[in-house]
Amino acid sequence: MSFDEPIDRRGTHCVKWDMMEKLYGVSPQDGLAMWVADMEFKPPQCVQDSVQAMVDHGVYGYFGDDSRYKAAIQWWMATRHNWHVTPESIFTTHGLVNGTAMCIDAFTAPGDGVVLFTPVYHAFARVIAAAGRKVVECELVKTSGRYEMDFAAYDAQMTGAETMVVLCSPHNPGGRVWTRDELQAVADFAKRHDLILVSDEIHHDLVFPGHTHIPMTAIDGISDRLVMMTATTKTFNIAGSHVGNVIIEDTELRARFAQRMAALGLTPNSFGLFMATAAYTPDGAAWVDELVQYLDQNRRVFDDAVNGIPGLKSMPLEATYLSWVDFSGTGMSMEEFTQRVQTDARIAVNLGPTFGTGGADFLRFNIAAPRAVVQDAVDRLRRAFADLQ
Ligand SMILES: Cc1ncc(COP(=O)(O)O)c(C=O)c1O
Repeated sequence: MSFDEPIDRRGTHCVKWDMMEKLYGVSPQDGLAMWVADMEFKPPQCVQDSVQAMVDHGVYGYFGDDSRYKAAIQWWMATRHNWHVTPESIFTTHGLVNGTAMCIDAFTAPGDGVVLFTPVYHAFARVIAAAGRKVVECELVKTSGRYEMDFAAYDAQMTGAETMVVLCSPHNPGGRVWTRDELQAVADFAKRHDLILVSDEIHHDLVFPGHTHIPMTAIDGISDRLVMMTATTKTFNIAGSHVGNVIIEDTELRARFAQRMAALGLTPNSFGLFMATAAYTPDGAAWVDELVQYLDQNRRVFDDAVNGIPGLKSMPLEATYLSWVDFSGTGMSMEEFTQRVQTDARIAVNLGPTFGTGGADFLRFNIAAPRAVVQDAVDRLRRAFADLQ
């Protein structure tokens, strides 16, 4: 397949295009949707075929026997991430926002603090707050234009009321692939403060050449307090299937999680399971390799142009297709640069402050689109900031 193929998603109930006018005032008629984290690409043929086979059969009853599905997950994690997962450690949730919410429900109590390294994926704070827990923001530090962690500062912030930390690895929106030392430091921090560590690794397949994602399970001495989260949905652009995996090796934590899943009557939907089983295959893997190459070129086109506009600076993307652009060099207020992007350039993007403390000078651009769209976007940005050039 060609990632260059334009696909009109307007009027299909897709949130990215069909809600952009309502939420950002950018018309889908002449605007570009570069916000929500899904891609403008069709999934690989093996995934399409799995849905087609369901349609051809034509009966959509209850799903049973998830052994092939779990074997596919085991194969993927072993071959792509050198991580050996046991089938009994795998839970299937209604996606990973739900997975995060389930962890909060299973492992924390109302009023507890849940630590986030901000700015970070906005839904974490939303579910923590909605569950009556306290969001504890530990701000990432910008060092040489990229995010790092400062554990001396975070240690000083802890009050003893914190019971969980949620790590986004690789990091959305900063695009960091955390190093082994950084992951070890997160694990040590979790141990020091007696926190359950939830590692959301949904972006782990979308890593650019020169960087290697290390699963948190590869870090020493953390397995008794670790919850891993992965999914097919970002990797294969099937977010609407709403399936994710919460993977827990520790038997005591696993029992607590299983109890909450049972209490809430949660079981997965068959479309998501069929798609995931078809995706985690050699054909799916070959498609992901091509996808990453394509995204790598997109990030070059985007970065070269954006960083050529005085005052704009994109964080170097090590992973993810979400470019985090710093506008502070323009000297403009958030209101002004946002207006130029949304009203003048007519691009719908995510606003930095929604990602928590540290996001104020930023906008997040989704570059997982045909190259012509990315090119169009940077041309629009050049025009909208022409007076700076
Ligand atoms: C870090 C992270 N976790 C979870 C999600 C969403 O997961 P789901 O669609 O499975 O709920 C996203 C989507 O952008 C994300 O970036």
